[in-house]
Amino acid sequence: GSLTSFQAHVYAWFSQHQRDLPWRKSRDPYRVWISEIMLQQTQVATVKEYFRRFTQQFPTVHELAAADEQDVLRLWEGLGYYRRARQLHAAAKEVVERFGGTFPSQVDEIQSLPGIGRYTAGAIASIAFDRKAPILEANTQRLFARLIGLDELLSTSASQKRLWQFAEAILPDAEVGLFNQALMEVGSLVCTPKNPSCRQCPLSAHCEAYHSGRQDEIPLPKKK
Ligand code: ADE
Repeated sequence: GSLTSFQAHVYAWFSQHQRDLPWRKSRDPYRVWISEIMLQQTQVATVKEYFRRFTQQFPTVHELAAADEQDVLRLWEGLGYYRRARQLHAAAKEVVERFGGTFPSQVDEIQSLPGIGRYTAGAIASIAFDRKAPILEANTQRLFARLIGLDELLSTSASQKRLWQFAEAILPDAEVGLFNQALMEVGSLVCTPKNPSCRQCPLSAHCEAYHSGRQDEIPLPKKK
């Protein structure tokens, strides 16, 4: 299928501005998975070195499944949220036992693994397998809220429903993983929480918040 103007702007911007990140050198689902789990609660700059060490120590799901839990936790030291490491280890064992060591490619199978929610399943399915699966994490949530002019709390189930629907509606038919990563990159480098760089933004022509001058008011601050 041909690209919409929105999609074409996203790809063109990404080809010029994407960062060189260690987990972007391969589409191995195991590596995509490790990076996405680490990135859930930790900054890109910190994740880089942890990702390198972790994948060096455990290059495939087999080594991780066979590892001693204490060794997995030791490699995680400093990243915090240690439940992630324990679930990663448990999920590796399930990939070996339930899927014969081959990482599953369907969103619902991926999401059935410990520690993998809708976002992470969509990220792995799209980035590693080019499945037409939407993603929604912190950066894309803020970007989408501004694009559609969502002036409600993002945490409500109505807002989440609208954001996921939007994430789904804009997906291209191919190169879905590239598209989803590009959206995360626009969110993190351009559509920043404070002082977004709307004049550098590939999507300003498609942005409701920008058109109404409300980019500083959307999204609403989280309720304390
Ligand atoms: N945050 C979550 N997933 C990411 C990815 N694949 N690239 C950059 N930032 C991310």
